[in-house]
Amino acid sequence: MVSVQFLPDNITTQAEVGELILDVAERCGITISTGCMMGSCHACEVEIDDDPICACITAVPNGRSHLTINLYSDPTW
Ligand code: FES
Repeated sequence: MVSVQFLPDNITTQAEVGELILDVAERCGITISTGCMMGSCHACEVEIDDDPICACITAVPNGRSHLTINLYSDPTW
């Protein structure tokens, strides 16, 4: 299991390796905006350790015990 912390609300949950970031967020009541659901529109973009990723196609990586995911609001969405 991986400890996943969502900022800025500081909500922490446990997730399985391979679980979609979008699903982990939804499970703890966090809504991430979505559009295409296939990695092209970037509506679901969040940052893991300052690297922007698309939550709809990115899974919890192997080999980490803790992830910090920063949700920021994109004014274009
Ligand atoms: S919803 Fe379009 S890239 Fe994730």
